[in-house]
Amino acid sequence: MIRINENYLKLKPSYLFTEISKRVSAFQENKPETTLIRLGIGDVTRALPHACIDAFHRAIDEMAADETFKGYGPEQGYAFLREKIARYDFQERGADIQADEIFVSDGAKSDTANIQEIFASDIRIAIPDPVYPVYLDTNVMAGRAGDLSDGRYEHIVYLDSTAENGFVPSLPGEKVDLVYLCFPNNPTGATIRRDQLEAWVDYARKNRALILYDAAYEAFIRDEQLPRSIYEINGAREVAIEFRSFSKTAGFTGTRCAFTVVPRACMAFDGTGATHSLHAFWTRRQSTKMNGVSYPVQKAAEAVYSDEGRAQVKEFVGSYMGNASLVRNAMLNLGYECAGGENSPYVWIKTGMDSWEFFDMLLNRAHVVCTPGSGFGLCGDGYIRISAFNSRENVEMALDRISRVLKG
Ligand code: MLT
Repeated sequence: MIRINENYLKLKPSYLFTEISKRVSAFQENKPETTLIRLGIGDVTRALPHACIDAFHRAIDEMAADETFKGYGPEQGYAFLREKIARYDFQERGADIQADEIFVSDGAKSDTANIQEIFASDIRIAIPDPVYPVYLDTNVMAGRAGDLSDGRYEHIVYLDSTAENGFVPSLPGEKVDLVYLCFPNNPTGATIRRDQLEAWVDYARKNRALILYDAAYEAFIRDEQLPRSIYEINGAREVAIEFRSFSKTAGFTGTRCAFTVVPRACMAFDGTGATHSLHAFWTRRQSTKMNGVSYPVQKAAEAVYSDEGRAQVKEFVGSYMGNASLVRNAMLNLGYECAGGENSPYVWIKTGMDSWEFFDMLLNRAHVVCTPGSGFGLCGDGYIRISAFNSRENVEMALDRISRVLKG
């Protein structure tokens, strides 16, 4: 008899963004004439930078001739891309990361979802609340979370991120083995200071723990004092894996390209206490389960690092950050407490009412889609997230509609 993985029965019924899509589709079926403005899922709306498109076209032409055609590529990514990433994203910022420590993939979502496979099933995991749902759900699927009771899984150590701690969680009071951190944060938009990140790295070193650091929104950091990579912190190479993405930085949500950094110094332990290289484990996992990212996509991603590409990406990110600041200021002017939006494309807004009720109100009356905070965890209750990923015109129109509803 074929049996299911019963851990799936412990999941909440649907993935957050799937539930939002369902409500949006139901609304559109009833009111097909209404134009909705989508500031919910963080999906970019601007076309790929020209530099990327040109490189993409050239690579497609190479695929069209036998002499230049490429079959399977190196599983961990082409050297031309890994070398640029290592140089521009890390070495130029004083972080000691080498090209062979970069693993190119189709997305930070897949990598943050898959990484847990290389760890033991009975480790103690700390996960922030609110949080990008992928970290928690994939550990539930793997059987590490235990049962759900009153909105929380029994074996997870929750790291509450609240207005009181500036949405940067404190170190856990107990010993954990694996910690997920995400900065600039999705969903709160909060950032972490260097001294705060140092405290986490110290914690991991003292407790022989590992930090999974999701820095997918690093390009949105404006404040030069803030760390962009965990590897800017001394000692992080031994205790941290970092995730990055071209999705939000350069508009690759539909094109798919990201990378994960697993330093060679990063170790984990077996039951006898012997050390094992996580770089070797991740290499083994990835080469068994994937065949890399397509050559044209990697060529398009490489173009992000050209002079032209860098200038275009800067403008691109700047335009979304202009939107973020409009959202933040509009909501502050309407009297709402806000976090994020200054070094992040997300604004986290305290609504004073149930998150889904506020979501439904904006959907039905302002015809604007946001994301209900409670979908990210119990600490998100009473909040919504507004994303800056849309055109300036749409963001202005959305804010105008929201302000009419909230004032009226
Ligand atoms: C979000 O809206 O939280 C993100 O777009 C989701 C993702 O990147 O998978």
